[in-house]
Amino acid sequence: MESLTIENFLKTKNEKGEVGKEVYATLIALCSAAKKIAEIAAVNGIGADSLGSLTGAENTDGDEQKALDVLADQLICNALGPTGISAYLSEERDEAVIFEGSDSQIVVASDPLDGSSNIDTNLTIGTIFSIYRAEQESWLREGRAQQAAGFFAYGPQTVLLITTGQGVAGFCLNTEGQFVQMDWQPQIPATTKEFAINAANSRYWPAKVKRYIDTVLAGVDGPRGQNFNMRWNGSLVADAFRIFRRGGIFLYPEDSRKNYENGRLRLVYEANPIAFLVEQAGGRASDGKADILDITPTSYHMRVPFIFGSTDEVDSYHSEQ
Ligand code: F6P
Ligand code: MN
Repeated sequence: MESLTIENFLKTKNEKGEVGKEVYATLIALCSAAKKIAEIAAVNGIGADSLGSLTGAENTDGDEQKALDVLADQLICNALGPTGISAYLSEERDEAVIFEGSDSQIVVASDPLDGSSNIDTNLTIGTIFSIYRAEQESWLREGRAQQAAGFFAYGPQTVLLITTGQGVAGFCLNTEGQFVQMDWQPQIPATTKEFAINAANSRYWPAKVKRYIDTVLAGVDGPRGQNFNMRWNGSLVADAFRIFRRGGIFLYPEDSRKNYENGRLRLVYEANPIAFLVEQAGGRASDGKADILDITPTSYHMRVPFIFGSTDEVDSYHSEQ
């Protein structure tokens, strides 16, 4: 079977009217930035300063910025400039980058380098992106307005999961530097025996989270009548990719620590794009109450409790409310 490159995949979508010219150009630009980030990440520790070294700055959310956070953000911004889009919102920046002179309404929101704590540990890190059309003087829209979304994961393989609203497609960066479609269809099974949560925070969880996790930990002897396994990567992209591959539930709920009353993850840069992919792959994504995609963002860096994955399992979490 002939390999389908991302360029040909998107060209066909453009011909079918599923992807407009601007979104097409934006996606190609993001792929070129991701290739550079993957190349840089792959040789971390040889010669140049560590990519995980602190820059001494903090982003808006109070996270310490690392060298690769800043580099990835610059590479993405530089790649987007010539595409003609109107604005770039980045987790690493306080304000939107406005591309002057653009007559387009297309906005890209991105977490340029997800999983920063894993940069120097040789574990998977990634780039998450969301593409939508701005409306009425605001650069923010609800997740349902996304025209395309996805993420790159830089791990043993550099992969891309992408949706333009007709299901999810998976690509792998081959040795010739091309993103080529993988031979599996991302689809999240409805049931699972695997969960992902940072259990170090359990003493801060609200009662409903404790109740749900207790049922899962009780295994065959508990109300669920089956054993579960746990995985936590510390990189959202890595946990998400696993869930697209074989199912699972991911939870970063609200907790009682200061500044965690809405969890840790950001609606615009992280939850919205992952939620779009999740729904397109047959899964469910919520903040514990509403579907993520129906939440109206009120600020660039707004956080949301984020629970997603296999539908039956997300339903089980909801039934503990
Ligand atoms: O971007 C935030 C992030 O690094 C995610 O990639 C990851 O899922 C989460 O934070 C890990 O948070 P914690 O260190 O609190 O477990
Ligand atoms: Mn992140």
